[in-house]
Amino acid sequence: MKLFVTGGAGFIGSNFIRYMLGAHPDYTIVNFDKLTYAGNLDNLRDVEASPRYRFVRGDICDLSAVLAALEEGTDVLVNFAAETHVDRSIEEAAPFVRTNVLGVQVLLDAARARGVARFVQISTDEVMGSLGPTGYFTEESPLRPNSPYAASKAAAELLVRAAHRTFGMDVLIVRAGNNYGPYQFPEKLIPLMITNAMADLPLPIYGDGRHVRDWIYVEDYCRALDLILHHGRAGEIYCVGARAERTNLEVVELILALLGKPRSLIRFVEDRPGHDRRYAIDPSKVEREFGWRPLETFESGLRKTIAWYQANGAWVERVRSGEYRQYYERMYGRRRVIG
Ligand code: NAD
Ligand code: TYD
Repeated sequence: MKLFVTGGAGFIGSNFIRYMLGAHPDYTIVNFDKLTYAGNLDNLRDVEASPRYRFVRGDICDLSAVLAALEEGTDVLVNFAAETHVDRSIEEAAPFVRTNVLGVQVLLDAARARGVARFVQISTDEVMGSLGPTGYFTEESPLRPNSPYAASKAAAELLVRAAHRTFGMDVLIVRAGNNYGPYQFPEKLIPLMITNAMADLPLPIYGDGRHVRDWIYVEDYCRALDLILHHGRAGEIYCVGARAERTNLEVVELILALLGKPRSLIRFVEDRPGHDRRYAIDPSKVEREFGWRPLETFESGLRKTIAWYQANGAWVERVRSGEYRQYYERMYGRRRVIG
């Protein structure tokens, strides 16, 4: 198979490329990525010499660049490319609309022009909004996005659906919960807390810390994607989660315990505006249709993740310099401590 992966230099995309090259010794992969602040070729050093892998730097909003890189005979286009951080979308939404909405339409147009057999849109559970204390997201849940990030991802889903209904394109939409694991940029909760705790820096928890996320280890997600892209039914939505709901406070306390660091590093800080209270996925459809199950528990996945950050201090040092320092100062420097 010939795969065209966009956003493959980011967190999930790089894990996916590594996983697919290992799982399928005859597959070739083109990685098309703009290399924004979140894209990092260090994430793929171990595969870059493979003759089955090729990197092309480009923007998914640039139709001629996409067409130049996208070969006839491509079996599957998997679109990971996106602006992905909710807090940044609150600061400035326009880049999210550009990449996550316009970019997706450009990719759909290019895929149709090149006769790509299947288009996989990597979406998120966040398009379905926030749950109360009970109930679960399913493939039938309505779109109710609350952040500019989630709204842009919901808009993308609608464009993908329209390409299926209007042009008969073979498309799949995959909505996952919060991923964690190696190579995640430390603006997101788990790598931020691990790297701060390792450096004895304060751990900023938004609001009361009782917000709930449903966590999945990235390699478990990559295995699910492998099954879905091969066996999924055209036009379908698939929700992927590992049945691992945790409050943010529980996550941070477990990280501190595993690192042997004191609870006194925790700071409760001013909440995120519009902060979704709870995400929880019912993954019955992927379990039933593909026999998929996660291999990691939250605890075993977190141990592996921490071990990776401990073993990769040079990677952490590089990504925490430059733009990250300015972002950190903007996001946390003036944030009120509330407890
Ligand atoms: P990430 O921020 O780590 O990586 C995004 C990648 O996209 C980067 O390599 C970046 O350079 C690239 N990119 C951004 N704009 C681009 C453009 N205009 N053209 C080409 N490349 C561009 O993201 P991630 O956490 O790996 O998420 C990947 C996908 O999975 C996203 O679509 C995201 O919405 C979705 N998702 C992520 C999570 C999660 O927990 N991380 C959960 C559910 C869904
Ligand atoms: P995040 O990793 O940004 O993912 P998302 O908002 O897309 O789910 O945040 C996960 C949870 O952690 C979310 O409830 C916000 C919270 N959070 C904090 O409490 N402090 C932080 O510094 C960050 C980055 C997130």
